[in-house]
Amino acid sequence: MGIFKWFRGKKNLDSARPVPRHIAVIMDGNGRWAKKRGMPRPAGHAVGAETFRTIATYCKDIGVQYFTVYAFSTENWKRPAEEVNALMDLFRKYLTEAAETMAQRGVAVRVLGDLSPLPGDIRKQIAEVDEIADSLGENAATASLCINYGGRDEIKNAVRAIVDEVQKGKLLPENIAEDTISAHLYTAHMPDPDLIIRPSGEIRTSNFLLWQSAYSEYYFTDVLWPDFSTTDMDKAIDEFNRRTRRFGGV
Ligand code: FPP
Repeated sequence: MGIFKWFRGKKNLDSARPVPRHIAVIMDGNGRWAKKRGMPRPAGHAVGAETFRTIATYCKDIGVQYFTVYAFSTENWKRPAEEVNALMDLFRKYLTEAAETMAQRGVAVRVLGDLSPLPGDIRKQIAEVDEIADSLGENAATASLCINYGGRDEIKNAVRAIVDEVQKGKLLPENIAEDTISAHLYTAHMPDPDLIIRPSGEIRTSNFLLWQSAYSEYYFTDVLWPDFSTTDMDKAIDEFNRRTRRFGGV
């Protein structure tokens, strides 16, 4: 499989840079960014949300088909209520904006995760955004926010759903394939990420896309997420393009 399989850079006219089909980001370092400036942590998240807008737009413009970010983990509920509430408000604001603009921008916004503990108004917004995304057709780029997402939680839920199908006689255990598991994850409708970026100097996966990242390339940088620029994205893509992906072959 040649590298040009990922080249969708029609609009990136000043660059011959092939782009990955699916880029995912762990948006880390917002708290430290705020602390360095003597600001409260939510201020870092607010700037991080702006960075998300900039980078998601850039990804779409250079032809990345899927852009997925880790916005709130199943463990983030442990943070102070003020911080959790501030994040929920950022989601409300973005979802309002998405509902108004996604059709015109040709970007399908999706929210991935266990949505059941989210406030009812946000769940309603997500349902509305989902409906618009469904209407956009296959050519739309997809921007996904992982909210109340945990990789282990996602796999546990997939196992439960599969067991349920087996118990109802809809599926034979010997017919459970890797694809069966993929099809029961929140990401069922998208390819696995080619490139996963973690800014802020932390070098771990933190329960993000555990199943889907089996063959992803990782890129780590010390830049804090609020400072992450389109130039940083270009660097990550250049590094990705220098790697040889063998998918277990030679
Ligand atoms: C991790 O950094 C980041 C989060 C837990 C939240 C990320 C969320 C956003 C950037 C806002 C998303 C909103 C939209 C609309 C996309 P951290 O706070 O743990 O950073 P630290 O390690 O420096 O403390």
